[in-house]
Amino acid sequence: MQFCRLVKSTFLASLSVLPPPPVAAFSTSAARPRAFPALRSSHSLSPKSVFGVTKHDRRETWCPLSIRGGGAVFSSSLSPSSLAMSTATEESVAPKEILRTSYRPLPYRVENVEMNFDIREGETIVESTLTVVGGVDGGDGNNDLLLDGESDALTLLSISLNSKPLSSSEYKLTPDGLVIPSSLLPPIGSKQQATIVTKVKICPEENTQLSGLYKSGTMYCTQCEAMGFRRITYYPDRPDNMAVFSSVRIEASKKDYPVLLGNGNRIEDGSIGDDRHYAIWSDPYPKPSYLFCIVAGNLSSISSSYTTKPSGRKVHLEIFSEPENVSKLQHAMDSLIKSMKWDEDTFGLEYDLEMYNIVAVNDFNMGAMENKGLNVFNTAYVLADPKSATDTDYERIESVIGHEYFHNWTGNRVTCRDWFQLTLKEGLTVYRDQEFSADMMQSASVKRIEDVSALRARQFAEDAGPMSHPIRPESYISMDNFYTATVYSKGAEVVRMYRTLLGKEGFRKGMDLYFKRHDGNAVTCDDFLAAMADANGVDLSQFSRWYSTSGTPTVTYDSKYEGESKTFYLTFSQESNNPDPLHIPVSVGLLDKVSGEEVSPTQVLNLKEKVQTFQFTGLDGDVVPSVLRGFSAPVKLVRSTKGSVGDASADEEKNWAFLAARDTDGFNRWEAGQKLMTSLIFQTMRQEESLRTLEYVFEAFGRTLGMDSVDYSIQAYALSLPPESTLAEELDVVDPVALHAARGNVKKTIARKFYSEIRAKYDELTVAMQSINTSDIQLDAVSIGQRRLRNVLLDYLCCIKDTCEEREVASKLAFSQFQAANGMTDKYSALSCLVSMDGEQDVVSRREGALQKFYDDAAGDPLVLNKWFSAQALADLPDVLDRVKTLVDHPDFTLSNPNRCRSLVSAFSMNAAHFHAQDGEGYRFLARMVAEVDKLNPQMSSRMGGGLIQWRRYGKERGALMKGELEKLSKLKPISNDLFEVVSRGLK
Ligand code: BES
Ligand code: ZN
Repeated sequence: MQFCRLVKSTFLASLSVLPPPPVAAFSTSAARPRAFPALRSSHSLSPKSVFGVTKHDRRETWCPLSIRGGGAVFSSSLSPSSLAMSTATEESVAPKEILRTSYRPLPYRVENVEMNFDIREGETIVESTLTVVGGVDGGDGNNDLLLDGESDALTLLSISLNSKPLSSSEYKLTPDGLVIPSSLLPPIGSKQQATIVTKVKICPEENTQLSGLYKSGTMYCTQCEAMGFRRITYYPDRPDNMAVFSSVRIEASKKDYPVLLGNGNRIEDGSIGDDRHYAIWSDPYPKPSYLFCIVAGNLSSISSSYTTKPSGRKVHLEIFSEPENVSKLQHAMDSLIKSMKWDEDTFGLEYDLEMYNIVAVNDFNMGAMENKGLNVFNTAYVLADPKSATDTDYERIESVIGHEYFHNWTGNRVTCRDWFQLTLKEGLTVYRDQEFSADMMQSASVKRIEDVSALRARQFAEDAGPMSHPIRPESYISMDNFYTATVYSKGAEVVRMYRTLLGKEGFRKGMDLYFKRHDGNAVTCDDFLAAMADANGVDLSQFSRWYSTSGTPTVTYDSKYEGESKTFYLTFSQESNNPDPLHIPVSVGLLDKVSGEEVSPTQVLNLKEKVQTFQFTGLDGDVVPSVLRGFSAPVKLVRSTKGSVGDASADEEKNWAFLAARDTDGFNRWEAGQKLMTSLIFQTMRQEESLRTLEYVFEAFGRTLGMDSVDYSIQAYALSLPPESTLAEELDVVDPVALHAARGNVKKTIARKFYSEIRAKYDELTVAMQSINTSDIQLDAVSIGQRRLRNVLLDYLCCIKDTCEEREVASKLAFSQFQAANGMTDKYSALSCLVSMDGEQDVVSRREGALQKFYDDAAGDPLVLNKWFSAQALADLPDVLDRVKTLVDHPDFTLSNPNRCRSLVSAFSMNAAHFHAQDGEGYRFLARMVAEVDKLNPQMSSRMGGGLIQWRRYGKERGALMKGELEKLSKLKPISNDLFEVVSRGLK
């Protein structure tokens, strides 16, 4: 027997392999008392701008990235009287809530815009010429023109009306905008135009919020959704003001910013002397200000072209990035071309401009943005090569490229009337990108499993907590807080239900009518529903309740077979936050209990009553129902235990085992297996494992493992245990430590039982993958599936590490995969196993060696470094928080780059068993980081703060600790509107 020498898992043990400690000015600064931690900037922020906090801190928030996961300030959809309100600042005046029902049409509308950007280091001058026409009388006697503008971001230099300068007494300047009285403007009903010219000064270099015009590295770029345009110029910054931006001129240094981009088509460019140059862009399509974009930088690019069908328009496609990334753009280009073709084939939608440009930026709050003709992408969602991107990264890039492209019709050509309608464009576009990816993957089931898993893990949790809201919210303080999993993922489920109810053709008819009626307009969710209903001649009024109902509905079912009449009865009842019943499509198939044959193929049942029974006749024997196939509605499905005799759960488990083996619906087959595993994990947690459940799980696992098919991805998902986040959703009170332990035990039990089979399959896959006669990474479904499956198996093999021999074997296996890996997927999976290993010197040095090698191989690549941070933040080691805290001081860490911040801090907050450590240190750490980030970037801080708001679900002690941190955050002075809203909802 080998002598086992344990190396205590102290953090010091790992220091040797970490890169040298920070040397940056802030990190050791004894002179400057610093609460927490060193802040470094990834881009050109001066120390002053990083630490200096302006008094009026109303900043926009965001979210996604995790959307698939606030602020607005004051929406001008409200009467200008709301301008009088202040925001959450040092005086702690509560920010105002904006109501969906307060929408008022615009009294004046901007019809045409001409802009000039004079970009100079430290000061950019923006001149805007707005052609204003009369709109709609609001009826409350106040028809003044409100031009939104954030006083923190804009310095007004001059303003004129119809070529005459306005004196300061002629207009009103507030922290939120500029009001021009209707008395100075043409009468509302008249056809007369007025011309307003404003000149403002802005400072993109000091914009750490990444909303408006800001600097990312050496390039200038903009982000205007939802309310960033008001940080660039004075304007009615609301989506129902659709205007033609007929001329946008950008002037900058020729040497530093050789590439100048804008929306639409480039109509002119030229030099001004030796040093400066300009470009003029023109976008013929009317658009809301949130789709505005300019970029100026020293960029490289790849280009291609696409000829649209049936029009035959040749479109120039170009993707830009910093020069060092240009070799990583091809996958994005391929994805763009596939997206363009797919939208033509599937929806008959063609692209409408001469150019389609995409720019990759490092510092970006979200994933990507659909600006008209000029998408801006977070580098994480566009750059890929096999050395730096995982298979999941490749797939995500394809889907995000698709998503932003599809917005050109669902979002840009037809946009939202107001921000409460956000799901109109986002829910619909997510549905479209999901369908696109499913088609590209050639497996609808794999994609469905992934999408539903994400929905359950994130959206169900959101809907069960204090941020719960309908897909069309009723109110917000900061709109950026409402780019949520609910608006996006549940919104996509609602669109999918139309498709399920109306069929493929019916759905297409509805889409066609929607575009026919609303092209060029800003509309509402009701308009979408009306198009679907009218195109199909159906009444969808009951279906509309999905738009106003928060929370996840529960559908309970009961069944009975009557031999005499050969009839099977399925009775459903539904519960939701709506007192009236919802219209729920329930897809059902029936399998013969004896033969296992499908005797009734999938049909969609229209559940419209509170309680409703459906009959299936002509059945020769009893059947097992497969209910909610393909997850046909975003509900929780439970089987009724009412009136059951004997052990109801035994009966249910028997059905799951039956379906896990035989269901013809790929999604439900997977689902049945997950239910069995869930049952076993919960039994383990309660220390009442039943042999019966264990045997079902073993049987299902063994059968799946032994399957000889090329459906590797399905096999991988069927062998995987449900994630802790999904399991937590089913518990009233969550003890993440106990849950983690129970899931870990079940994993180990399975791994021990099937160790040799798992190992054999792992080796078999290794050989199969090596036999492919190329060292290039293949990205077809089979190759991706093989890697996915092999990495699931590796994870099982590596969880056997109780003895020193086992640790030796496990760490060797992971380390050899790490060394042999020819792509990031296998490398990162191996690293993820290694980071959670501890014990003997050899084991520790494999772990640390791999981390060091990973870091060295990254050679400064920011996206690879993010993975290096994440892997460590997600490690299952007792001292993981200490490691994370040390990483905060690593020279490569910065809070000002959202990707980097997320890769460490947000990743740690998702490491549930450690984040929720009983002593509350995880909560304290997160709250301190949130407070720091709030000074820089409220969209980020409010998103991160969301990690604390579910405190009611974590039991008394943990709940109190989490709440305590929320209370501290609520007293921050100043606090952004975004964070204020999340924290106060969390405390309510
Ligand atoms: N329009 C959004 C980007 C956005 C989100 C802007 C929030 C402002 C605030 C874009 O179309 C989007 O939805 N992006 C997602 C990715 C997408 C694939 C779901 C994102 O950024 O996470
Ligand atoms: Zn979107």
